[in-house]
Amino acid sequence: MMIFQGSHILSVSQFDRQAIATILATSALMAPYASRKKRCCVLDGAILSNLFFEPSTRTRVSFGTAFNLLGGYVRETVGEENSSLSKGESLYDTAQVISGYSDVIAMRHPKMHSVTEFATGSSVPVINGGDGANEHPTQALLDLFTIQSEMMQFGKSLDNLNIVLMGDLKHGRTVHSLSKLLSLYNNIKITMVAPDALQMPDSVISTLTNAGHEVVLTDTMAGNLSSDVIYQTRIQQERFASKDEAELYRGHFSLNRDIYQKYCRENTVIMHPLPRDSRPEANELDTDLNDLDNLAIFRQAQNGVLVRMALFALTLGVEDQLSQYEKPVNWYTNK
Ligand code: CP
Repeated sequence: MMIFQGSHILSVSQFDRQAIATILATSALMAPYASRKKRCCVLDGAILSNLFFEPSTRTRVSFGTAFNLLGGYVRETVGEENSSLSKGESLYDTAQVISGYSDVIAMRHPKMHSVTEFATGSSVPVINGGDGANEHPTQALLDLFTIQSEMMQFGKSLDNLNIVLMGDLKHGRTVHSLSKLLSLYNNIKITMVAPDALQMPDSVISTLTNAGHEVVLTDTMAGNLSSDVIYQTRIQQERFASKDEAELYRGHFSLNRDIYQKYCRENTVIMHPLPRDSRPEANELDTDLNDLDNLAIFRQAQNGVLVRMALFALTLGVEDQLSQYEKPVNWYTNK
């Protein structure tokens, strides 16, 4: 059984189904606090250091929000150029220092495996907020939480699902982590729709096939989108050698209402880790889908707060004390 208290959260590979069930169940307990029905100050006095050495909107802010919602305080560093990493300080030394100031650390960095390297120098739990093209474990957990809650309305669970992953599957760390998590469930069919040059890494495909799941690789949307969930990803321009190379693939797999109606099931749920590239030339997930009930992308982003609250509660060992530290909400809220 996984011991969460004091553990780093670096890769989805450290979880089994039981650990994931614990995270998802603890995430659900956070809903009244995230929706401002009640407050919880179980982490009053605790400090999160939120270190983001690569751009982020929702991961960074939702880590901070999650910690604040449990009563804790947040200190931030944003951008490598604003930290002493730019003066040659190592990740190990940075971790030694920052962990002395903090109770837990969340970190994003552009280099693969950098968060694991950082964690070797940390005396407090480190949570990976994305390390280059490698992994994004908290995103995969919130994706799984979203799939579970979206499928519940159709009487389905995380087993026996038919899922389409589409877009830049080579560089998209969220789909790497999500595929590994899905491999733990039963009888999953995953269709990977991508240009050959941007297909899923072999190591991720092997994780699925070795676990007995059906994997279909294709570069064609027609006939391949009938599924429970379509998970669209952005062309990760920042991971290409040049912008021109990224341009070669932009707009290849754009999903819009016409294509949805033509190729998807009536109830196919659309997910995307966001940000979606809304520039006209990108056209990857059209805004004409915005009023579709099955577009789950913003519910998905909100679920990030619940899952990150759960990970803080578990790694700091307070998941059983939430109700003891509840308070009323005394301000106007329309959540
Ligand atoms: N999904 C995600 O990681 O978004 P940000 O880059 O905005 O954090």
